[in-house]
Amino acid sequence: MIALQMLRKSSQTRSRKQLPRLFSTISQLSSQQSTPPSFGIAFDIDGVVLRGNTPIGGAPRALRRLYDDSGILKIPFIFLTNGGGVRESKRALELSELLGVEISPSQVVQGHSPFKQLVNRFENELIVAVGKGEPASVMSEYGFKNVIPIDEYALCFESIDPLAPYKKWNTMEAAVNSARKCSIKSERVQAAFIVSDSVDWSRDIQVLCDILRTGGLPGSGEGPQPPLYFAHDDFKYQGAFPSERFGMGAFRIALESIFNSIHSEALKYTSLGKPNPVAFKNAEVVLKLLVSTLYHDHAHSGSHDFRTLYMIGDNPFVDIKGSRQAGHPWFPILTRTGVFKGDCHSNHAEFPANLVVDTVEDAVNFIMRNESYEP
Ligand code: G3P
Ligand code: MG
Repeated sequence: MIALQMLRKSSQTRSRKQLPRLFSTISQLSSQQSTPPSFGIAFDIDGVVLRGNTPIGGAPRALRRLYDDSGILKIPFIFLTNGGGVRESKRALELSELLGVEISPSQVVQGHSPFKQLVNRFENELIVAVGKGEPASVMSEYGFKNVIPIDEYALCFESIDPLAPYKKWNTMEAAVNSARKCSIKSERVQAAFIVSDSVDWSRDIQVLCDILRTGGLPGSGEGPQPPLYFAHDDFKYQGAFPSERFGMGAFRIALESIFNSIHSEALKYTSLGKPNPVAFKNAEVVLKLLVSTLYHDHAHSGSHDFRTLYMIGDNPFVDIKGSRQAGHPWFPILTRTGVFKGDCHSNHAEFPANLVVDTVEDAVNFIMRNESYEP
């Protein structure tokens, strides 16, 4: 309800600014549509619909084809990105603004979205959240009740990061509640979650090694490693810069390499985003629920069977590998706007897609033709 109010408020703001007309929210969808399509689409974000904050590959036009003339969403689609660091509701608003179509929070699946499935296990335990943006708010929204961002956690321990005085951007100290500092210091951290890309690799690797090798009590003796979860393991991704940037997988390699050289047992960790089949299973469930919402079929909520689910991605090692491994009903499509830079007749040798296209718009045009959804 709050998300819908936010969407309405943001739509009003946009119309005041005379920005392009936005399309309908899911709540406004009519029940006139009777037969759900037998297909759905999952769009990767970085390198497919956006580079940095700039739409690419005709993405706004392509997405508009998925709504009818009155702005009713007709094709079930979601964004399936390994990116994150903000709540799904906030990301939905940002995407709506950037792409000119109204996206519901239920259409945004981020690398960290599957962390929700771990709430039962860590609901009241002390956990540390790492990454850019608002990693702790993301985790709190999922239901974790005792989460602290690593920025604040590090400030609880004097001199834990000897380089801190040289970090000109570090302005958080004053904001930390000292009472909380004291209680946190003596409590064991039960798990660490890498929610989004680490901003300060040197500090985060240092503090995570302290947590992980001591059983969750930095500065104490060795102890069993608490569980460590990564939102994903992308070694590189396509941002605004011409060549790819190091991602969370590169950070994982750095952490693992250092941890393994100071600890007798190898680092144990789990990555839940693409290409993990869990991410694709979860995406299928989300798309099924979306169909139930679109077609008001609450009696059989989430039971729709898709003949085909198209995954449109730019990274063969992540989007294509993952959808190939997930198998039926996934149909991987590779664009040439991101990590994959082969020529127009080539495919990836190790993880070939079912189809290689130049842009996301080409991919959507193919899907609409293939599914006989031509206007
Ligand atoms: O950090 C984000 C990046 O690793 C990939 O994002 O949208 O290409 O899955 P995306
Ligand atoms: Mg991508």
